[in-house]
Amino acid sequence: MSKTIDLFTPFELGSLTLPNRVVMAPMTRSRAGQGEKKIPTTLNAEYYAQRVSAGLIITEATQVSPLSTAYANTPGIFTAEQTAGWKLVADAVHQQGGRIFLQLWHAGRVAHPLLHPEGATPIGPSAIAAQGQTFTPQGMQPYVTPRALELDEISEIIHQFQQGAENALAAGFDGVELHGAFGYLIDQFLQDNANQRSDRYGGSLENRTRFLLEMTQVVTQVWGAKRVGIKLSPSNTYNGMADSNAVETFSYAIDALNAFDLAYVHLMEASEADLRHGGQKIPTSLFRPLYKGTLMVNCGYTKATAMTALSENNADLVSFGNLFLANPDLPERFRLDAPLNAPDSATFYAPPCNDSIENCGFEKGYTDYPFLQSPTLEHSH
Ligand SMILES: Cc1cc2nc3c(=O)[nH]c(=O)nc-3n(C[C@H](O)[C@H](O)[C@H](O)COP(=O)(O)O)c2cc1C
Repeated sequence: MSKTIDLFTPFELGSLTLPNRVVMAPMTRSRAGQGEKKIPTTLNAEYYAQRVSAGLIITEATQVSPLSTAYANTPGIFTAEQTAGWKLVADAVHQQGGRIFLQLWHAGRVAHPLLHPEGATPIGPSAIAAQGQTFTPQGMQPYVTPRALELDEISEIIHQFQQGAENALAAGFDGVELHGAFGYLIDQFLQDNANQRSDRYGGSLENRTRFLLEMTQVVTQVWGAKRVGIKLSPSNTYNGMADSNAVETFSYAIDALNAFDLAYVHLMEASEADLRHGGQKIPTSLFRPLYKGTLMVNCGYTKATAMTALSENNADLVSFGNLFLANPDLPERFRLDAPLNAPDSATFYAPPCNDSIENCGFEKGYTDYPFLQSPTLEHSH
């Protein structure tokens, strides 16, 4: 009889051995340095190194283009300085024996002119504004109507992801995750309430999935498919997303991803907010029989529900956002059934700061969550 799989069963992710299946989900923390230069710092390195006991760390969303800024103080990977900053992070995690993927991101229509050089208008598949607001240097502002991408610009964006993937390789990461969730650019192409194009990137399922698949193609060419993951959120309503038939759209996209032998597909369950905003509850287990490769699931999981997902073979890996944010030693706490620190949502994102990094107060709610016992890692308290 085979042994029951649980959160502490190691997992072979291509040539990487994950010592457990507790993955740190990607989380924007708005604490990159030097304002518009968007450069990761030693403080960011310390934060990730604190969470090194994760089976795998996935970094916060990282911009591939200067015209992709949805939130202040978020990092990029399109300049040499940013790449050098990320190398500090990857090196710190590796020195402690961990594994880390970088999440590649283009916000598309969710970007904001007030956060862009020269106030440039955001781009999207179609000129349809995202719903909601973002925090800008002029306070909370509603999203603006984006400019619909010209056909020849789409290949430029795909090239930006390729460049971002190459920079992530140079920075020493173990792989990359494409951010196809939460209503950002890849999701905007997939779902028909944001994509009303009439060219080969809009309309049919095949056309709406083309951007994702072309992107996957170029990024896997840089990294090898086993070092590339993709995050998708079939039930998500955040940023005003909806699809006239989300089950069909995501089934098509996930099935098409079978053609690549990816590191994983990372799928989100419906959140309470999705359901409150009229979203459809599409369980990730629906896609389990469809997707032949490694499936990572996310959203609202606890130790108990994650254990069930693994033992019932509904997933291979489970990622944790809020819980990892607040518990740098989450796998150990799970192992011991120890109490968990509560996440403080007031400090999830730091307000805009163009001052020198020492004066931004970024440590609070970031690197100061306590470890369970005397820490084995160096960290500031
Ligand atoms: C502060 C914060 C920032 C987040 N930023 C990102 C992000 O940059 N990229 C992403 O894919 N998801 C992001 N998420 C979503 C998480 O990755 C995860 O999907 C979500 O928190 C649900 O998982 P949980 O219930 O375990 O927290 C963020 C979540 C939080 C709490």
